[in-house]
Amino acid sequence: MANIITKPRGTSDLIGAAAERYQELVAALDRQARLCGCRPLQVPMFEENRLFKRGVGESTDIVNKETFDLAPKGDKVYTLRPEFTAGIMRAVIENKLYATPDLPLRLCYSGSAFRYERPQAGRLRELHQWGVEFLDAELDPATVAEAIVLMVDQARSLGLEPLLRINYLGSAASRQAYKAALVGYFEPLIDSMCPDCHHRLALNPLRILDCKVEADQKLVAGAPVITDYLTADDRDNYNRLLDILSAAGVEYELDSRLVRGLDYYTGAVFEIYSREHPELGALGGGGRYDGLVAALGGPAFAGVGFSFGLDRLLLAQPPAETEHSVDLVLLDLTRGAREKELAPLKRDLRARGLSAVAVNSGKALAGALKTADRLRARFFLFVDERGYHLKDLRARSQKDLGPSVTAEALAALLGERYAEN
Ligand code: HAM
Repeated sequence: MANIITKPRGTSDLIGAAAERYQELVAALDRQARLCGCRPLQVPMFEENRLFKRGVGESTDIVNKETFDLAPKGDKVYTLRPEFTAGIMRAVIENKLYATPDLPLRLCYSGSAFRYERPQAGRLRELHQWGVEFLDAELDPATVAEAIVLMVDQARSLGLEPLLRINYLGSAASRQAYKAALVGYFEPLIDSMCPDCHHRLALNPLRILDCKVEADQKLVAGAPVITDYLTADDRDNYNRLLDILSAAGVEYELDSRLVRGLDYYTGAVFEIYSREHPELGALGGGGRYDGLVAALGGPAFAGVGFSFGLDRLLLAQPPAETEHSVDLVLLDLTRGAREKELAPLKRDLRARGLSAVAVNSGKALAGALKTADRLRARFFLFVDERGYHLKDLRARSQKDLGPSVTAEALAALLGERYAEN
């Protein structure tokens, strides 16, 4: 197998049960979101680079260092999406989705995102996200709380023991006062800090709080905290939100260092972790963004949303109990004499919602039974010159069905057996 082509670093092949778990996870998250009134939205996997520069922010690592930019075609520079929120807002504006009386607009989405990061367990270059965005001309703390409660409940329903961390970044006035305080604190220290932090101090001093360099983290520990710089309005909004969360029975930890890696946040920000798997980092994160829609050319709409990292959720989820995955395995032992009646039989069984998997007709009975065992099939149907025979692989019994059989009769028989155990 010399010279085979392997997958790019930081990507994954999901095979068989792993792909099934992924699909079931997305379906379960969609189902819960629909109960809150969310409708799905699909957006392109690549967008104009300037959307992410303007949307996510030029001071962020995600845009500054980690984008996958496509070779220019014509006069446009395109980038694989590093996240969904900017693209979703572009679609909301372009399709005027905000022009509806039924607000807040509630959208959910899922798929791949791309970040050129150093791969490790739970950190990929092609990652998968599932998320929601709620939008309205004015967003009350109840709607922000609804997004957070949904996130926590979804994590719980996946069998996780979630830890919610929350912070409040505040309105423009609060953030301006806080940024000035950070500049005042870091300016005398900056010569001893990493080159990236020099850049961050000029562009967005909040980003310094996320610096991964150990020596810089020690300095960050003594920096001012945002909660000391919130305006009275912001403090009031934050307290209302926390009260609603407490009333809903949601536990949280306040984390005044949580600033998130994207520039669009303007109010509450939050992240969720698994108590059993803290090594995976955040399983999801989000927050409120009041200026993003307007910054991208839309109306003055406020938004709140979050995204789960599906790859991390799958690593954190407890393994599912193995259920049988196939109803019926079929084998033709007539060397093709019955092939014309088996084709419609398989189709009719599947139309009745039963999974029917045929093994190659050249296979011997013993080999086909082993396949049925590996597929965790409950029943095995084979046909030979004497007619049809059905094995119940759990009850270890066999029933001879005579020279012909209908899907209706078979489905009824399987139904009876399933009802028994
Ligand atoms: P984010 O925190 O950048 O937020 O990403 C959300 C989640 O995606 C993270 O908590 C993590 O689980 C997962 N994730 C991020 N990077 C990677 C990676 N390299 N490998 C594996 N998983 C990863 C956002 O993307 C925002 N758009 C969330 C949001 C929605 N804010 C408002 N609305």
